[in-house]
Amino acid sequence: MFPEILSRLRPWLMAPLLCAASATTALAAPPRTVPDTMAQRMLVCTACHGIEGRATPDGYFPRIAGKPAGYLYNQLLHFKAGRRQAVGMTALLDPLTDAYLMEMAQYFAALDLPYPAPAAPVADAATLRRGEQLVKVGDAARQIPSCNSCHGDRMTGVQPAIPGLLGLPRDYLISQLGGWQTGLRRATAPDCMATVARRLSGPDVTAVAAWLAAQPVPADAKPVDRLPAPLPLECGHDLQGPAAMKGATR
Ligand code: HEC
Ligand code: HEC
Repeated sequence: MFPEILSRLRPWLMAPLLCAASATTALAAPPRTVPDTMAQRMLVCTACHGIEGRATPDGYFPRIAGKPAGYLYNQLLHFKAGRRQAVGMTALLDPLTDAYLMEMAQYFAALDLPYPAPAAPVADAATLRRGEQLVKVGDAARQIPSCNSCHGDRMTGVQPAIPGLLGLPRDYLISQLGGWQTGLRRATAPDCMATVARRLSGPDVTAVAAWLAAQPVPADAKPVDRLPAPLPLECGHDLQGPAAMKGATR
């Protein structure tokens, strides 16, 4: 079944790769001796998402390695359904079955790889203080719960489907929060993350993104199993993880 999917995928795979010169050299004519492993098949993804899905050093492409499997799977469904946009990526997903999306999600989730050191902060001290306050405490006057009340006190995410907030580039953070504010990025209703993002002002978005992007990722960056308290807002039912994940280890 999977080789069949691959042969259907190949024309799609090649299009974005032709733009990525180094990846093309490696992939254009894979010798028959190359083993058909998940790592080999996922080279099309890692051409944009960095080696092993670690993200590219200065780029915009988000890391996918080590994120909760349910989160990655939900995102692949969101891209396929048009709730998120990424030029060059969505077309790759169109021919794939949900079972294969899950296999890819579980493959990347299981990669346990170190993170690079964070970039130096690009904001003044007051902005960084505001960012830290929103992440750890929130802003009760504006009904903004702390980011950590959903993403975890260590900001490393929560199983099975809430992502961590560390190790993401500042530009990516700003773009995702902006996407939720404008409706370009959506999650399953009730979309609690959209509610939070819309309560943030422009300077708040700058502040949280600057502070988060400057934080080191702890050595153990694994998502935690559960939060100490219920979520402060109602979120989509898919945060429980899809039925296909029952029995999965991550
Ligand atoms: C042409 C470049 C490109 C390719 C190839 C690509 N992606 Fe992406 N991907 C992106 C971009 C850009 C984003 C961020 C989009 C946004 O701003 O929301 C993204 C986002 C994602 C996300 C969401 C990450 C998060 O933290 O929310 C997942 C999961 C993902 N990609 C998986 C894959 C997989 C699996 C493949 C291979 C089948 C793949 N991508 C191939 C460009 C690409
Ligand atoms: C009520 C719970 C809740 C709160 C509070 C919350 N988030 Fe989220 N956040 C979520 C959920 C759920 C998702 C995953 C949505 C999806 O599946 O697309 C998410 C996703 C994200 C993402 C996408 C990560 C990626 O890899 O693409 C970012 C960035 C983010 N949140 C930032 C924040 C920030 C910054 C705050 C605090 C100002 C915050 N969140 C507060 C629930 C919350």
